Amino acid sequence: MTRRVRTAILISGRGSNMAALLAAAGDTGYPAEIALVLSNRGDAAGLEHARGRGVPTSVVESRPFGRDREAFERAMEAALHGHGIELVALAGFMRVLTEGFVARWRDRLVNIHPSLLPAFRGLDTHARALAAGVKLHGCTVHLVRPGVDEGPILAQAAVPVLPDDTEADLAARVLAEEHRLYPAALAWLAAGLVRVEGERARIAAPAASGALANPLPGPASVRTSAPG
Ligand code: GRF
Repeated sequence: MTRRVRTAILISGRGSNMAALLAAAGDTGYPAEIALVLSNRGDAAGLEHARGRGVPTSVVESRPFGRDREAFERAMEAALHGHGIELVALAGFMRVLTEGFVARWRDRLVNIHPSLLPAFRGLDTHARALAAGVKLHGCTVHLVRPGVDEGPILAQAAVPVLPDDTEADLAARVLAEEHRLYPAALAWLAAGLVRVEGERARIAAPAASGALANPLPGPASVRTSAPG
């Protein structure tokens, strides 16, 4: 069997993406082994799930470090190195990482964001998508760069925005796609199928072809008035 890449998942809360990654990595053929789940909050619900699956966990509380992000990251990296971590997957990790940390983990640090980047970087993406009236929304897995929610895109999934959607409806529709997308994208990275060229990531894996549109274009013959 080929060696699996020792991967840490960083969380701050619920951990549903973490759970999806743990489920995928439960298959010994999956190229990443989840060797650590690390949270910056001891009360993150995802920790219980990880412990229940027998995955090593670590809590490095960020709060006591105040604004000293470097010191917090040094403590976090001590845990990462202690577990022989080679790859880091952010999954709802609510701390902005310093340029130094991002540089040290360059192309070995991946994130999932609930929008079709580069649209809607930052927080409250679903409410902002609804307010903007976009017809397609979704999620993105990307390599991390110093700018928040910036970096080469590994994969995206789109969902329709339906006319009566609430923020919760839309969030749930996107989240279901996150849980499919993240395990696939992490597998490509761990398997060495990602090549970064400038700001673009090329994936040497078979990709689905075709395009998505919402609303689906109707027959070309649809007209609002009879042809003259
Ligand atoms: C997800 O929507 C993810 O895209 C974003 O934070 C949320 C985390 O949810 N980065 P969960 O903790 O994985 O359930």
